[in-house]
Amino acid sequence: MSAASSQAVPGFDDLDRAWLRARPSVKWHRPAPQVLPAWVADMDFPVPPAVVTALHDTIDRRDLGYPDWPDGSPLRAAFARRMAERYGWAASADRVREQTDLIQCLQLILHLSTDKGDAVAIQTPNYPPFLATLATMGRRAVPIPMKDTDAGWRIDFAALDTAVRDAACKVLVLVNPHNPTGRVLTREELEEIAAIAQRHDLLVISDEIHAELTYSPHQHVPFASLSPEAARRTVTLTSATKAFNLAAIRCAVTHYGPDRLLRLRDMQPPDLYGAISPLGVVATEAAWRDGAAWQRDLLTVLDRNRRRVSEVLEARLPRLRCHAPEATYLAWIDTQPLGLGDTPTERVLKNGGVMLDGGTSFGPEAAAFLRLNFATSQAILEDILTGVTHALEAEAGP
Ligand SMILES: Cc1ncc(COP(=O)(O)O)c(C=O)c1O
Repeated sequence: MSAASSQAVPGFDDLDRAWLRARPSVKWHRPAPQVLPAWVADMDFPVPPAVVTALHDTIDRRDLGYPDWPDGSPLRAAFARRMAERYGWAASADRVREQTDLIQCLQLILHLSTDKGDAVAIQTPNYPPFLATLATMGRRAVPIPMKDTDAGWRIDFAALDTAVRDAACKVLVLVNPHNPTGRVLTREELEEIAAIAQRHDLLVISDEIHAELTYSPHQHVPFASLSPEAARRTVTLTSATKAFNLAAIRCAVTHYGPDRLLRLRDMQPPDLYGAISPLGVVATEAAWRDGAAWQRDLLTVLDRNRRRVSEVLEARLPRLRCHAPEATYLAWIDTQPLGLGDTPTERVLKNGGVMLDGGTSFGPEAAAFLRLNFATSQAILEDILTGVTHALEAEAGP
């Protein structure tokens, strides 16, 4: 047994492939039956028991009536508690508004804060729907390339400063922890970004959805918690969906730092953006209130898996570049040193029977990259890694 393997964790390593494939959700449903999925950012693990119990309780009460939330959903206070407990950030429940998902949050904030043609800085590579959103909304994406250094992925602060100045950016979309590289920016790095944001009067839209998937000793720092000045220019987006595997609940929160934006938000027609489902609120509250034991096991499993991915890639394909993620269950793999061209996802699907994400939907320089989702059991991960390495070794030649 390898260094990165360890004891199986019940509830996480006993996944039944037939059960996974029979579910209608997209990760296992879309690929052909002989293909293993390691693509979309959903985990294979069952929903935390605390969330199942809370949802069952609601159904058992036969209570699916209109919620009584005259002052907003209970999510507002739940978010403020969560931020205080985990990060010592005194977020204000009064500044929280609910949306169905983070892409909707992003679109709403861009709609309220920018016009067509305005420049928006965004790290590249990035979560594809965010890049697509900028394009479909007619905002000018100003790429802030993450730099691959021997120490890992870094932001070039001088380049960021110049880019936002030259393009007259109004907004910086910051994804931290970062999808797809898994980088968790340190307090010092975030302070550099905050200084640039202040210098150019940027609104910072900080997506922190992967924060609770941070591996020790790395630590997530909410951007808005840096200083009162940073708080006033930051809109924070998050949800429980990534860390607790609840993508289907469609429930996210936005914390508004800027007073003006919050006022604008509240001036919108009340039903224009729809309302979230009470089931999403029940699930999120249960995850945040009672999910700690499940989350501890989850991080043990994910940490083991991320080490295993590095171990196998280093042993079998040492020419590949892949920095172990500091957060997330996604490994961002650069196949350029193998000289395979720009369609490695297709090669891995065809020759290895594994469906991965990657390529230019993550940004212009991402053509030769693969994103591997390792949130699965030890046994399934071994088969995924066998398929990927087989496909890339065959293509790379001796
Ligand atoms: C960085 C980032 N933001 C937002 C989302 C969207 O999450 P949701 O659909 O739960 O809103 C994802 C999903 O993978 C993500 O990785």
